[in-house]
Amino acid sequence: MDKDPRDQNSRFPADFAWGVATSSHQVEGGNLNNQWAAWEKLGRIKSKDSVGRACDWWQNAEQDFDLAKSFGVNALRLSVEWSRIEPKEGIWDETALARYREMLKALHQRGMRPFVTLHHFTNPLWFEEKQAFANPDSIRLFRRYTQRVVSALGDLCQDWATFNEPNVYVSLGYFLGEFPPGKKGQFVLAARVTRNLCLAHAAAYKTIHSLQSNANVGWAQHYVVFKPRKPESALDRWLCAFIDRRFNDNFAETIRSGRAPFPLNKFGQSLPHVQGTCDYIGINYYSRLRVGFAFTSPKTLFVQITVPPHKPQGDSGIEVPYGEVYPEGLRRAVEHFADFKKPVYILENGVPDREDRIRPWAIESIGEQMHTLLAEGVDLRGYFHWTLADNFEWNEGWHLRFGLFELDPETQKRTRRASADAYAKLIKESMEQSGVAGGFEAEAAGMSRNEIHPAESVLNSELSSRVVAENESGFSK
Ligand code: BGC
Repeated sequence: MDKDPRDQNSRFPADFAWGVATSSHQVEGGNLNNQWAAWEKLGRIKSKDSVGRACDWWQNAEQDFDLAKSFGVNALRLSVEWSRIEPKEGIWDETALARYREMLKALHQRGMRPFVTLHHFTNPLWFEEKQAFANPDSIRLFRRYTQRVVSALGDLCQDWATFNEPNVYVSLGYFLGEFPPGKKGQFVLAARVTRNLCLAHAAAYKTIHSLQSNANVGWAQHYVVFKPRKPESALDRWLCAFIDRRFNDNFAETIRSGRAPFPLNKFGQSLPHVQGTCDYIGINYYSRLRVGFAFTSPKTLFVQITVPPHKPQGDSGIEVPYGEVYPEGLRRAVEHFADFKKPVYILENGVPDREDRIRPWAIESIGEQMHTLLAEGVDLRGYFHWTLADNFEWNEGWHLRFGLFELDPETQKRTRRASADAYAKLIKESMEQSGVAGGFEAEAAGMSRNEIHPAESVLNSELSSRVVAENESGFSK
């Protein structure tokens, strides 16, 4: 019989980030100036839902920060909305930056370490109109935006993700047409967009480090475990390996090797500036999918994605299954990026599960996987559950519910799901094992900021002096 992984020397580090993850468009409400608002207007949200007030964060994120604190979370990942900060090209909205400052301060007051993502799928309309990251000027524009954000918020945040899931942004936006700009099968364009995203990431990485010498900068890479639908079929095996490489290595491969993405690499393009531009590996891991050839399905580029009915899964998307919940796959994800030799943060993991049928089990199981990985020496530094309260799930709208708390978008009422207790238990037991603050009462949440996040006092005193005056010309490229 297998040993209980918790019997092994598998303690979570005392400063482990136990978090929840969110993104601006999905929670803030009232973001009308980005390409997702335009996509919604075009009727492209499959559920026909409207984002509306979302989780009302622009008015009151603080109520959710209190919720998060109530069950022991000590970190929170959010994104800042470029279309609010730079509503028109070169025009900056200081009130938007002030609101983000308020949010980050509110997190610190509650003993939570903020992780800020600079780009989580949304582009300002003016930027989208310029072809977004298909345009080489996007690199300069993204660097300038990064400089502005880090100059304004850098004394309150040390942990940054430049891009959320560039591989999803490219695959759904330029291969499958499911996300804006809705392009299908555009391999060369997709490679160009990936290349520019890598260059923009590297420029942002260097910009942030020029402002904060101790910054912790990476990005969030989505990882899917792919399996051939029929392992005996050579065609399915080939397709599975092809998709695995194209999807899981998209973006990451270029940062690892400094070479342009396929097929641009065939023209000898090299991108030495981007190589190694990350301080950690950020992984978003959700599920396992079976891949098979579908000769009669040109619409899906001859690929069929399935989940065997007997496998654990949450709710299905409107047209496609979301995926098998496969906690063991976390190991595959971590191993896949092991040669970066960097600390690992799980920046997202969760299940769409409105009735909370399997999420508590999924949380417990992912906890066990993390214990085992730690015991084996993996340098795991944080875990962020997606998500705190149900939020607007892109082209699925309100159809898929990932929250530890159920949200009624009309009334904004939040109802605790059993999953919140499962997560609170995992955090509490792991902290007790690590001897952090002798454990804490999840409900009372009497966390001491310094015990939970010792880096924070350093952050407050040192970062403010590290943030230099805004001066774009002084930055390295
Ligand atoms: C994205 C989130 C999304 C979540 C659940 C991730 O791919 O980063 O924005 O809500 O998955 O589907």
